[in-house]
Amino acid sequence: MQTIAVIGAGMMGKGIAQTSAQSGYKVLLTDVELAIAEAGKAGIAKGLGGQVKRGKMTEEQVAEILDRITPIGDYAPMAEADLIIEAATEREDIKIKILGKAGEVLGADAIMASNTSSIPITRMGATCPDPTRFIGMHFFNPVPVMRLLEIIPGLASSETTIARAREFGDKLNKQVILAGDEPGFIVNRILLPMINEAIFVLGQGVGSIEDIDNGCKLGLNHPMGPLELADFVGIDTLYEIVKVVYQTTGDSKYRPAPLLVKYAEAGWHGRKTGRGFYDYSGETPVPTR
Ligand code: CAA
Ligand code: NAD
Repeated sequence: MQTIAVIGAGMMGKGIAQTSAQSGYKVLLTDVELAIAEAGKAGIAKGLGGQVKRGKMTEEQVAEILDRITPIGDYAPMAEADLIIEAATEREDIKIKILGKAGEVLGADAIMASNTSSIPITRMGATCPDPTRFIGMHFFNPVPVMRLLEIIPGLASSETTIARAREFGDKLNKQVILAGDEPGFIVNRILLPMINEAIFVLGQGVGSIEDIDNGCKLGLNHPMGPLELADFVGIDTLYEIVKVVYQTTGDSKYRPAPLLVKYAEAGWHGRKTGRGFYDYSGETPVPTR
């Protein structure tokens, strides 16, 4: 494998592109328009600039990594990719359109993956021209830092596709785990009820934002509290994940907390919009309730 295409230049797409380029892959990066893919590359450059300032990388290393990333405005160049990774907004309708378009240019020996946090892989695979060459590859945020890659084979994913996805994860120095194609896979099945419950706890006035987060940071040794993590992941994304898990299981224990729904609908999506459970307009985040 030499060339990777990443569709979606948001938080995760940028992280996957950066990590792949750092591991020596040539990366094609796209989004709804070329300008967004270019802004994505600029964001990666800014992050890598910080690594230079901290003495973790040299300017030459950063230049080599950035040289390997090419923003693109249409799907045709993806015909040369060995692996296409879809990392766009967590909405099934959007992803299915993308997979249809990517499937049209997918090389004869190439494979295609989705970085979805929750949408059933078998169901998405069934919309692809060749479901045997489609698989779930779930990275964690921030991708350059988090060691895990969860691989989710769909019912039709071939053994070769699974082996190639695993080989890619190994090259990226990720620890690969295999998860069944069940709602939330392994990690989000466990994480999402915790974050959702923290939002119920807040909504019911059991604790303040600060006390809930400090409780989990200091009492459980979590690097971020659940509300801080909600803002970090993106409240829009979390709401979509919780809805998928709730709808696909039909189990009321996964129902979205009313405050999660309100924040999602208000557009208070966390760090990416400047406001979620915290306000990010100043130097340090300030709790909003
Ligand atoms: N890109 C590259 N490197 C980054 C980075 C980024 N975006 N963010 C942080 N880093 C690096 C820093 O450069 C630093 O590296 P060095 O130690 O080599 O200097 C290191 O990571 C630690 O960073 P900081 O000191 O700035 O910050 P920190 O110690 O507070 O750690 C954190 C930041 C790693 C994000 C930490 O707070 C953490 O682990 N938070 C929890 C993250 C988490 O739970 N992620 C999973 C979310 S759920 C998910 O992803 C699945 C889903 O489907 C929703
Ligand atoms: P994001 O909102 O930061 O970025 C999504 C990007 O997708 C945006 O740049 C948007 O313009 C782009 N996009 C939307 N429609 C598109 C289209 N038709 N074609 C191409 N690009 C399109 O979201 P994110 O946090 O990067 O999440 C992306 C995917 O990764 C989702 O499936 C999400 O569930 C998954 N994921 C997210 C996290 C997380 O912590 N945020 C962790 C693991 C997996």
